[in-house]
Amino acid sequence: MMIRLLEERCKPCLLCVRDCAAGAWREDNGRPVMAAPEVCNRCGHCVAVCPRRAIVHNALDQDQIRRTDRALLAPEIYKEIVRGRRSIRHYRPQAVPVETIEAILALASHSPTASNKQNVGYTIITDPRLLDKISRTVFGIARWIYARTRTFPGKWIYLLFKKLSPANDLERYLTVMEYYLDQTQKGRDYILHRAPLLILAHGPRKGSFHGENCNIAAANIMNYAHAMGLGTCYIGFLGIALKFSRPLRQLVQTPKGRKVYACLVMGYPAFRHRYTSSRKKPVIQWIDGNAGQRHTAMGEGSANQAVPPSP
Ligand SMILES: Cc1cc2nc3c(=O)[nH]c(=O)nc-3n(C[C@H](O)[C@H](O)[C@H](O)COP(=O)(O)O)c2cc1C
Repeated sequence: MMIRLLEERCKPCLLCVRDCAAGAWREDNGRPVMAAPEVCNRCGHCVAVCPRRAIVHNALDQDQIRRTDRALLAPEIYKEIVRGRRSIRHYRPQAVPVETIEAILALASHSPTASNKQNVGYTIITDPRLLDKISRTVFGIARWIYARTRTFPGKWIYLLFKKLSPANDLERYLTVMEYYLDQTQKGRDYILHRAPLLILAHGPRKGSFHGENCNIAAANIMNYAHAMGLGTCYIGFLGIALKFSRPLRQLVQTPKGRKVYACLVMGYPAFRHRYTSSRKKPVIQWIDGNAGQRHTAMGEGSANQAVPPSP
């Protein structure tokens, strides 16, 4: 890797040194020096922060680097994107153009990754028969679990699980399972929602932060897709089923050595949501070092309300 300082351009502001988290750029007698190129993680901060374009980094794709434009930042629009995005569970059959998918994934590649590993990969499934098979397989697993919880000894195991894990959501789904079964027989797909496209974000099987990397990318995919008039839905059921079912992993053809950490469906919504949602106010713990601890539930447009601290 070659990282070079154009000495004639550099008026040593040392921003490159200050912004280098890896410790590759260091100060020597008031000037920046590339002291440890082997620890550089190619984040490109040094190139991005240098006001005089005095750094040449040959591991970066120069064609992708463009000047940032603060005038384009529009917080109100971003708020509209985040508040207007909803999980879409009814899609038009229309395919999403490949270029659109590529544009969305290219944007998501700007998401942060731990140590700038940039190791999020995607499997994109558009084959309708395969999508249907995946849905049926996941729903089949749910049906199997449901059937086991109705009879002994499965019922006992389930009751024990409920006691040990009272906050789980399984009960809610089991309660409604008869309805789901009936609707599924009538053609409803509760797993992939008959979306024309499934995106599986995967990372290395071993190591740290791969789930975080994939899910941050997934959030950006969902928001950008919404901004483009597309709908998405995060499919946690598929994620869970993939953890336990090898046949399902084979069905989605997870690349060797990789693990799926986030699953989303995408397509053109069959109908629009006209209103934003209402959300619980987040409970925020403030530790400011002055007046001890305050716990507040903060909501948009409302004054902070004190809520009692948790016991
Ligand atoms: C981790 C996670 C797992 C989810 N799993 C599913 C799922 O399997 N199927 C589904 O239809 N929706 C799933 N959702 C969508 C949530 O139900 C949805 O985000 C929530 O009800 C709020 O609705 P909204 O996204 O329309 O604002 C999941 C969301 C998240 C964040």
